Amino acid sequence: MKIELSDKLKSFKPFLFEELYRKASAERAKGKDIISLAVGDPDVPTAPGIVKCAVSEVRKGLNHRYPNTKGNENLRCEISAWHKRRHGLNFHYNDEVSILIGSKEGIAHLPFVVMNEGDYCLIPDPTYPTYRTGAVLAGGRIYDVPLLEKNGFLPDLGAIPQKIADKTKLFFLNYPNNPTGAGATRAFYKDLVKWARKNEVIIAQDAAYCDIYFGKPAPSVLEIPGAREIAVEFYSASKTYCMAGWRIGWVVGNSKIVCGLNQLKENIDSGPFNAIQNAVAFALKNHEKIVPAVREKFRKRADYFCDGLEAAGWRFSRPGGGCFVWARPPVNRKSIDTVYYMLDKVSVLTAPGSGFGKYGEGFVRFSLTEPDTVLRKALKRISSLDWSGLK
Ligand SMILES: Cc1ncc(COP(=O)(O)O)c(C=O)c1O
Repeated sequence: MKIELSDKLKSFKPFLFEELYRKASAERAKGKDIISLAVGDPDVPTAPGIVKCAVSEVRKGLNHRYPNTKGNENLRCEISAWHKRRHGLNFHYNDEVSILIGSKEGIAHLPFVVMNEGDYCLIPDPTYPTYRTGAVLAGGRIYDVPLLEKNGFLPDLGAIPQKIADKTKLFFLNYPNNPTGAGATRAFYKDLVKWARKNEVIIAQDAAYCDIYFGKPAPSVLEIPGAREIAVEFYSASKTYCMAGWRIGWVVGNSKIVCGLNQLKENIDSGPFNAIQNAVAFALKNHEKIVPAVREKFRKRADYFCDGLEAAGWRFSRPGGGCFVWARPPVNRKSIDTVYYMLDKVSVLTAPGSGFGKYGEGFVRFSLTEPDTVLRKALKRISSLDWSGLK
């Protein structure tokens, strides 16, 4: 029998970065010292207290049984307590909080919960790619909302055509933003909530980088009065607690949406390992002791990396948070050509802005999730680049 993969799967474009990764591996195999700043995978190990807690939780036999899809009460209560401390918001642990196997998993599943075939999903451009995955698999139509530098990489809500807004069910946003590093203000969230309520659109704000901010603490869209009627927010332990490999995150907000997502997931998965859930409960309880050092590390990296890029003639807005620098090179070229040139000439692999959407064209994304020594070496190489060879 000839295996035919589904039309939906075939409709996915090949992952743009695959070819780049292949080339980087081939160069490495030839003995070249390739530095990769292409992916956002934190190099900082998980705090020892969290690891110690997890080890002791692994030893408990009760944790070896199936977890509950929406998460155990210990973790959901700690999440509620953390949101109260961080944002002054009360979420009931029972129906306004649900645990995810990484926020990516919840983000990919959400469209199945709220969209029907043909509904529109608004997706920022440039974007984190998983918003599109879920919406396309759910049979939705996509409207790309440009994030332009002149608007601080915030969507221009007034520019979304009314005929699209009328058919839109879901709007994904992500602040502090990957890839641009921009932050959202409370004033923007206020306009967003007003717009969404008027147009009956569900807001899904992805707060994966909410605690890696470099100025004032990043606000939550759910702080805006009335937001809870239309919004949910996704959180991740991956960056805040440097737990990317542990695969755990959560969603909070509108109870109908949170419970709907949980209902879908009950039919798909059984939630993360209870030992990991309890380790995250420990992390949340000790958040104020653990996270400032992580935030400071990324702030310092962003500072010196931006200073170096600026001196080398790159053009960019400094990130307000997150783990990335989103910049235009000294010459105006297609992102992919710039990235290949850097890889060929100085063995530094970066992510082409065009891989995040058409409005990313011309940009390059640098990830700051490598040790300081590696970042400094990469910067030195980038600064030495002679761009005259890039045609
Ligand atoms: C914007 C954004 N959202 C979500 C995620 C996924 O996070 P998690 O590890 O919790 O699945 C990432 C990971 O890089 C991200 O950049």
